[in-house]
Amino acid sequence: MKAMASAPAKTILFGEHSVVYGEPAIAGAVNKRAVVKIRPSKSDKSILKSYDLNFEAELDTENKKYVLKKGKPGIIRYILEALSKVHNHSPIEILLSSNIPIGSGLGSSAAVTVATLAALYRYHNIRFNKKSLAHDAHMVEEAVQGIASPLDTLVSTYGGLVYLSRNKKVEHFKVNFNAPFVVGYTNKHGNTGKMVKDVRLLKNRNPKVINNVISSMGQLTNYAKQAILKRDFDKIGELMNINQGFLDVLGVNTFELSRMVYRARECGAIGSKITGAGGGGSIIALCPNNIDQVAEGISKEDNVLKIRFTRKGVSSRV
Ligand code: MEV
Repeated sequence: MKAMASAPAKTILFGEHSVVYGEPAIAGAVNKRAVVKIRPSKSDKSILKSYDLNFEAELDTENKKYVLKKGKPGIIRYILEALSKVHNHSPIEILLSSNIPIGSGLGSSAAVTVATLAALYRYHNIRFNKKSLAHDAHMVEEAVQGIASPLDTLVSTYGGLVYLSRNKKVEHFKVNFNAPFVVGYTNKHGNTGKMVKDVRLLKNRNPKVINNVISSMGQLTNYAKQAILKRDFDKIGELMNINQGFLDVLGVNTFELSRMVYRARECGAIGSKITGAGGGGSIIALCPNNIDQVAEGISKEDNVLKIRFTRKGVSSRV
């Protein structure tokens, strides 16, 4: 038996960090994917390898441990956690390919988790649907990171551009929102778990100030929802810039992220902000009229991706 599954990366337009405290968020699946293939191992060991990410490891699925043969994959803890939920410890070979830059804030861990779980369900012939898959993937992220909102795994599972409401209801935007965005990312990876914990500590030390910031971020996300529905790009850009200020207050900004944010604006982006957890990782810039200038400006010192939103969520087959 062989099985395979793939899941998209995501980018958060509004609501990272505040979503952890129950505020709404807006995020979309983008045209970069993680692909997981599973087949029985040729030896008595379980093997995980990725040519794209240049690593190989022997897995001890019973004890959630591994021995690295090559490379240094941060993503491996998510795969071991997914295996511990679904797999019966028979020796398997897992091949991971991905064109999502790891640690770039595009939800590589969520895409890998969703694709791994879906491939495992197929491999073991276990029935699942998107709701149960998104739930299980969220549990994996929470187990690995300590704290995680369901946002990344939801978007990777369902695809499309989604609004996650305060009561965790998922609404798909019906508008055709193919606005041109550029993502800039540094070689310095962000660590989502650490950033989420740091924000919690800041909030514990300064509860009144930070609670107000977090609820303002929620309010801003609701304004952004209206602006997206009206396709009012100027308003969306303005709200992205305000959101960047809030993320700076939360302490997740860095010199490199700021450099990309300001360079994007200097090159004509109407809005630019961190996307994802920050502390490294990516920024997203809305540039309806000058995508090439913005991409070129950022690429002087950092890496660039031109992204499109995609409706395609998880897909799997045997
Ligand atoms: C990370 O992509 C988004 C955060 O809000 C964390 C989470 O939602 O779990 C920073």
